[in-house]
Amino acid sequence: MVKIAPSILSADFSCLYEEVKKIERVADRLHLDIMDGHFVPNLTFGPGVVSSLRRKISLPLEAHLMMDNPEKWIDAFALAGCEWIIPHVEASFHLDRLITSIKEKGIKAGVALNPSTPLCELEYILPKLDLVLLMTVNPGFGGQKFIPEVLSKIRDLKQIGRERKLSFEIEVDGGINHNTAKKVIKAGATVLVVGTAVFDASDAEKAVIELRRV
Ligand code: DX5
Ligand code: ZN
Repeated sequence: MVKIAPSILSADFSCLYEEVKKIERVADRLHLDIMDGHFVPNLTFGPGVVSSLRRKISLPLEAHLMMDNPEKWIDAFALAGCEWIIPHVEASFHLDRLITSIKEKGIKAGVALNPSTPLCELEYILPKLDLVLLMTVNPGFGGQKFIPEVLSKIRDLKQIGRERKLSFEIEVDGGINHNTAKKVIKAGATVLVVGTAVFDASDAEKAVIELRRV
């Protein structure tokens, strides 16, 4: 079954707890967009906010690290209580070392790829990954338009997984709504990150339930 991971990037940060509570019963996990103002032209929040949420929210947490030097932050996000840590392939010089260090902590490891980054970057790391996150917008902001060229990348990744008999999840992130959800699921996505289409909806819980129906 396809999983839904609402992204709090589009939530009202002045009442973050109440916002997350709205979707806690219906979401599969919570997507946390960590931005450093270098790797992407935007800033969000760090491990302090994550650990506060961890104390009050039962959903599994995944940290999408849109930051340079991700290796310096693995301990902090592990300690904050993340179940998945997902650095960007473009941000790491030593990806194998980074992924190994995440897994040694008993945390699931993923990698994220910008829309223009080819899948061949993953060739030798793929067996170690629990998840591959394919960006379907250029990272940095919520509410952007889905990039349709990524659909063939999803299909290709699905095919590679099948051929190599690997069972990583394929997560998509950016511009996901009713319409694009159908397309990415058909192409092979197994986890949908959804920001605006959930937290900008008048009823966030209903928005997740309706996306699940897709
Ligand atoms: C973008 C973030 C996304 C974003 C998705 O850089 O990684 O997680 O919050 O938001 P929507 O669903 O609005 O595109
Ligand atoms: Zn994200």
